[in-house]
Amino acid sequence: MSDFWSNYWKQGHLNSFGDSANDNYRGVIETSWTQFFADYSNEKDTIVDIGTGNGALIDIAVNGATGSSCQFIGVDYAALNIRPELHKNNVQFLEKTNAESLPLEDSSIAAVISQFGIEYTNFNKSIPEIARVLKPKGRVNFVIHYSNSSIVKPNRDIFLALQLVKGDKGLLGLLKDLVEAINTQGKQSALAERVRATLNERLSNISNKNGLVGTNFPAFLRAILNPSLTHDKKLMMFGMYESEMNNQFERLDDLLQASKTDEEVSSLCDLLEASGIPAKSSFVTENGEILGVNIEGTKGG
Ligand SMILES: C[S@@+](CC[C@H](N)C(=O)[O-])C[C@H]1O[C@@H](n2cnc3c(N)ncnc32)[C@H](O)[C@@H]1O
Repeated sequence: MSDFWSNYWKQGHLNSFGDSANDNYRGVIETSWTQFFADYSNEKDTIVDIGTGNGALIDIAVNGATGSSCQFIGVDYAALNIRPELHKNNVQFLEKTNAESLPLEDSSIAAVISQFGIEYTNFNKSIPEIARVLKPKGRVNFVIHYSNSSIVKPNRDIFLALQLVKGDKGLLGLLKDLVEAINTQGKQSALAERVRATLNERLSNISNKNGLVGTNFPAFLRAILNPSLTHDKKLMMFGMYESEMNNQFERLDDLLQASKTDEEVSSLCDLLEASGIPAKSSFVTENGEILGVNIEGTKGG
């Protein structure tokens, strides 16, 4: 299994698709989780967060407005990098652990939650597993990626643009050829001029400009053509950009496969019901934009 999520969490991010300027989810996502956690003040209750990442939801619960004192278990198959403020007696993380096989007792859990996590799992295994560990009247509360959301749509554009950047025959390959031509034959050489012209033409033909900006290629191109950089420094920068780009490509590929259409949301609700957890879905919206789909249910109805 690829390690792109582990690489992402290793960098210290607290969440995956939130407001990066504010570090964690804000707005309607933070408010609705804060309301949900307000129902759980009993220290004997345990809440499990599936696909927890670096614990964004648990952070809202224990360090946010409610300061919930129930027990939290964050589950994720990636290796994590949990911040000190989440090292608490009532918080535990099970990293490298699959949602499809939870190391938890039957009927032991008060609620299973997930923010942009459960949709990455194999529902045919993870949903029965969740039904097994939930207590009678235990609740599920998921926010999942929706294929037409304001989060997924721009990331789809970035994913498509990355396909134009990647590989020897992509924009990055051309930029490497240009840097090589400048190094060996000089900035104004015929070879450098030819490669530069091809690169500029390819760039001007790209209609998906927002997606391209999201790949960071335009900013990288400006940085790498700075004449004061040594050739070795440029090679190092290519390595760093390529590695980040490959990770981004895999994360977005995973996101696009995980995000659900209306039909898939409805099948998920059917599967929950068949597993003894009748559930309903609704859109999570903010400023008229769909951020995702909320699915709420209770074991035994
Ligand atoms: C988009 S991230 C969400 C992380 C976090 N909930 C957040 O909102 O920031 C999805 C996470 O699900 C995890 N994941 C994917 N499939 C999984 C599985 N089968 N079992 C457990 N975790 C899984 C990934 O490792 C990743 O950390």
